[in-house]
Amino acid sequence: MNPRPKHIAIIMDGNGRWAKERGHNRLWGHIRGAKAARQIIEASSRLKIRHLTLFTFSTENWNRPKKEVNFLMSLLSRQLDRELQTLMSNNVKFRTLGNLSQLPDNIREKIKDVKEHTKNNTGLTLTFAINYSGQQELTHCFKMLAEKVLSKKLHPNDISESLINQSLPSAYQDTPELIIRTSGEYRLSNFFLWQAAYSELFFVEKYWPDFNSEDLTEIIRQYTHKERRFGFITEQLKQQEVHTPNTVTLLN
Ligand code: IPE
Ligand code: IPE
Ligand code: MG
Repeated sequence: MNPRPKHIAIIMDGNGRWAKERGHNRLWGHIRGAKAARQIIEASSRLKIRHLTLFTFSTENWNRPKKEVNFLMSLLSRQLDRELQTLMSNNVKFRTLGNLSQLPDNIREKIKDVKEHTKNNTGLTLTFAINYSGQQELTHCFKMLAEKVLSKKLHPNDISESLINQSLPSAYQDTPELIIRTSGEYRLSNFFLWQAAYSELFFVEKYWPDFNSEDLTEIIRQYTHKERRFGFITEQLKQQEVHTPNTVTLLN
């Protein structure tokens, strides 16, 4: 049996379809999606999960109609205002991944403010992936390493999986043991391409606004019963071995 995951990442998908199927416009779905996110943040905190990453806005989401993009930005801004108190009372530390420089100034300011206020909290670390792209994150990382090689600060032979891992902006947290995507879509949509190497993937049919703490608890329960093999076979796992997604050591 696996211990409870330390890091859960969620691709919160299906707000638009949820609203459409109920005769509302897509924007209503985003409001209900934000409510679901609040519930899941509180539940993760209660369940003593160390890290929760929520895929909030992808670099590709700028392609949506301007009205929807603007609405998502204003919703994010309101959420940051409203949730600060809840984050504080739940001892949650707020962080982000993704390129914030393209966000409206007022949102960047608010993000900075919420990060600053919550930086000494010691409970759940909540990460919003905003304007995030896995490929972009890796491209930046490789460019940075290439520059170090060019200036002779790094030898190409020293570029390893572990160096790449440490050089990514997500290095402050372990890679997620569990990635959940709602809405019945079976894809990563450019999320955590590197970090997902050995994550357990759970695809849920429900749309995001319907996803609740019971669903999360049930997925965690199923996760704890999964056999994570990391390339080994079952018989080997029964011996005394150490396994983590990035360092797999067979002790015999
Ligand atoms: C997820 O729901 C929220 C964001 C991507 C911002 P969608 O808006 O993608 O909803 P569907 O997938 O169109 O139903
Ligand atoms: C992924 O959902 C992005 C977020 C959940 C923020 P999308 O709805 O944008 O993904 P695609 O476009 O259907 O792959
Ligand atoms: Mg979608």
